[in-house]
Amino acid sequence: MKLEGIYFKYPGEVEVLKGANLSVDRGEIVALVGPVGSGKTTFLMIAAGLLEPERGAVLLDDKPLKDQLPEARERIGLVFQNPDDQIFNSTVYDELAFALRQIHSSSSEVDRIIRKVAEKFNITHLLNRPPYRLSMGEKRIVTLASIIAYNPDILLLDEPTANVSSKIIESIKSVVEEFKQSNKAAVIASHDGEFIAETSDRVYVINNGVTVGGLDSKTILSNDELLTMADLKVNPSKRVQ
Ligand SMILES: Nc1ncnc2c1ncn2[C@@H]1O[C@H](COP(=O)(O)OP(=O)(O)OP(=O)(O)O)[C@@H](O)[C@H]1O
Ligand SMILES: [Mg+2]
Repeated sequence: MKLEGIYFKYPGEVEVLKGANLSVDRGEIVALVGPVGSGKTTFLMIAAGLLEPERGAVLLDDKPLKDQLPEARERIGLVFQNPDDQIFNSTVYDELAFALRQIHSSSSEVDRIIRKVAEKFNITHLLNRPPYRLSMGEKRIVTLASIIAYNPDILLLDEPTANVSSKIIESIKSVVEEFKQSNKAAVIASHDGEFIAETSDRVYVINNGVTVGGLDSKTILSNDELLTMADLKVNPSKRVQ
């Protein structure tokens, strides 16, 4: 997937993105870092085809994403920064089932996939619960599971490690690792320097509407100027690997 020269502004607001670029190849994990309010979430929403840029190209397999919607939605999975913006079904089961039901016609196949994903993420005991009553960490894992359930090619994670335990961070790491190994792609927007250092092949810094970097993680995460620009702290022991 490739985003080139993206410009975007919310109605009545100043420009958030002013020529931002990002590319992610199959088998690659790319991080997007930048200060609070720099446009990371906005950029991921554009990559997912949920917001349309004013200018610029969003390409999936070198063709405009816009021309491939709505079908291409099955290929891109965005896990929202705030689970409450994503969750809308009345049970966890239905939340996991929603996208699957658009893809598979057989309800026994949908059920089989849900059981398997619930087991993988250790949320079988939550399946009949109303999602709004879950803890923030539980909600986050449910939203991730609901995306993984339909097996997208490109995973977009928006602050995946916020409000979760180290055990859940480990399982998110293994999901990302599986994506890489199956020659799929992931883009991770995060303020978590350690998680990025451990998972990402390349890093983009977004600041003042543009992206810089895009080079390998070690180069970016050892550049003090870029880290300051990203308002990111990385433990020096994680920098040299
Ligand atoms: N729906 C909206 N309407 C108007 N302005 C918005 C809207 N959503 C975001 N913004 C503004 O756009 C800018 C970029 O927001 P965005 O959420 O993309 O930043 P971010 O980098 O993801 O921040 P954070 O690190 O806090 O998650 C901010 O100034 C924000 O206030
Ligand atoms: Mg954000």
